[in-house]
Amino acid sequence: MKEKKTFYITTPIYYPSGSPHIGHAYTTVAADTMTRYKKMRGYDARFLTGTDEHGQKIQRKAASEGKTPIEYIDPIVDVFKNLWKTLMIDYSDFIRTTEPRHIKGVQQIFQTIYEKGDIYKSEYEGWYCTPCETFFTERQLEEGGLCPDCHRPVEKMKEESYFFRMSKYADQWLKFVEENPDFIQPESRRNEMINFVKQGLEDLCVSRTSFDWGIPITIAPKHVIYVWFDALSNYITALGYGSDNDELMQKYWPADIHLVGKDIIRFHTIIWPIMLMAAGLPLPKKVIGHGWILVGDGKMSKSMGNVIDPVVLVDKYGVDSIRYFLLRELPYGLDANYSEEALVNRINIDLANDYGNLLSRTTAMLQKFQGGIVKAPVTTDDIDDALLALMEETPAAVEACFDDMKFSDGLAALWKLVAAANKYIDEAAPWALNKAGNFDRLSTVMYNLCEVIRQVTILLAPVMPTIPAKVWQQLGISEMAEYHTWESLKEYTFPVDVQIARGEPLFPRIDLASLIIEEKPVVEEVKEPEYEPIKEEISIDDFAKVDLRTATVLACEKVPKSSKLLKFRLKVGAEERTVVSGVAKHYEPEQLVGKNMVLIANLKPVTIFGIESQGMLLYAELDGKLEAIEAPTVKGGATVK
Ligand code: ME8
Ligand code: MG
Repeated sequence: MKEKKTFYITTPIYYPSGSPHIGHAYTTVAADTMTRYKKMRGYDARFLTGTDEHGQKIQRKAASEGKTPIEYIDPIVDVFKNLWKTLMIDYSDFIRTTEPRHIKGVQQIFQTIYEKGDIYKSEYEGWYCTPCETFFTERQLEEGGLCPDCHRPVEKMKEESYFFRMSKYADQWLKFVEENPDFIQPESRRNEMINFVKQGLEDLCVSRTSFDWGIPITIAPKHVIYVWFDALSNYITALGYGSDNDELMQKYWPADIHLVGKDIIRFHTIIWPIMLMAAGLPLPKKVIGHGWILVGDGKMSKSMGNVIDPVVLVDKYGVDSIRYFLLRELPYGLDANYSEEALVNRINIDLANDYGNLLSRTTAMLQKFQGGIVKAPVTTDDIDDALLALMEETPAAVEACFDDMKFSDGLAALWKLVAAANKYIDEAAPWALNKAGNFDRLSTVMYNLCEVIRQVTILLAPVMPTIPAKVWQQLGISEMAEYHTWESLKEYTFPVDVQIARGEPLFPRIDLASLIIEEKPVVEEVKEPEYEPIKEEISIDDFAKVDLRTATVLACEKVPKSSKLLKFRLKVGAEERTVVSGVAKHYEPEQLVGKNMVLIANLKPVTIFGIESQGMLLYAELDGKLEAIEAPTVKGGATVK
């Protein structure tokens, strides 16, 4: 059998100094998605994450809680591992820097560089930022003597230390970066790093004696190895470097991608490559520094108290939605703001309205017009050609983005196809084809829709771990694995004569208004509401006279000079209507836009406040409160019986 091509990707190993937040979730979800994508494309993909457990910061945190470092760390590591489980992170290995395999490997790297003469003993005098675990010279400090990275106070340090002769490697580094233009991504970060090195590199202090929570240097055990020297080595100690089994090193090193946040790009693009040069090892192929997820107007961090717990979000919205949101929202290399409202909008618009609705409409029509059977395409039309041409070019467009981890762009490209398919339904109007008895066209249109959904779903699979199985189920192709593969995107090939199984909406719409209520829970005394008595009996014929229809709210606004009335623009099947409704005290107009409400469609029009109201919208009323009757996934025009 042909050997598979290998792919090795890593995330930073996170500090277990507090619970993980959506920033950590972003990096890890992105690396997981990349791994799933590479696997689907036939690679032997390996994905490493873990925790960075040594150093002064952890030692102090533990002490402040009256615990030993390990007592303090262990439960937090479990929180990280549980989060990765919740987010369906399928890592190949999880490394903890307190594991013997890592300790041994780090000592080996240190020893190798020492023996080469690139580590020497001297005295360190300067400043140290414990939250960042970083050394600074007087000159580098921010005004007021603060850390230039995190703007917190630094500490004076003077101790005997070992130094790593980084200065010696500046030219070799510059040459490497010039010859490997892709090494540092994105471009803006690359330029920053080049400028930094061009100003000259200083030797790096790589050992400490004033505390002991770290890996001792074999030949000088009162020194512990600097936590960044220790942490960066994880990328190879996890492959067995320093052990007598170098199989994984042979197979996966150098790494294809180190994915990190922009806060630690300097450690990964300067210190780490120079450590590898000194140790005589190949350099990673690429380091990508992504942007921040911002909350309010700052970076989210534990000390800012603005941390968003991803487990709570997954509980509330589901793993596929959260992963999609994170990857769609953060543009490549840039920052993005987090808000729950932005999240709900992505879910409602991209997932419920666009993708979910595409499946829902398609399966509903298949059920209704073809008894749930997907039939072979017969006659084609120009509108088919346009859709199919877009479908044919979409995989390459998505791949080009995913290959570079530009997930937001890739998903945007994919959503063009989703939008085109929804538009195709409106244009091809399968209901009209059915009515006219044009079954050849009808089966073609329905077939094309199934095929587009199939292809979109495959392309989404690296991002969404649970949705594809649900879609295959609904499309009746669960058992046909050959139709779920990346390879199968090359063909226009939905199986014929399968029986679909229409199911629940993939992404139920979320009421934005409910968020506001949940944020400020109001505890009220529970009292029995006042129900209206049941009216006198009618016959079924009386009821049948009332034509109830779903109506999609296209627009909604307050009626000027009225405190009670809202004016609605509704889509009811092919026609549009204006309706005035007395709910201004119960809803903000924006809350109702996009909803599918229920309308009495054959009520004699009346004029209210000078506006002709063509029908009446229905609400449930209790204790004077009104709530719209909705058909969440049924567009305007459907009969209500
Ligand atoms: O730096 N937005 O660990 P750490 C996006 N142990 N990503 C974010 C983020 C945010 N607001 N906040 C954190 C360390 N991240 C070292 C790493 S590696 C050899 C040692 C992500 O727990 C992002 O990937 O502070 C960032 O680089 C990382 O978490 C920092 O995690
Ligand atoms: Mg940090």
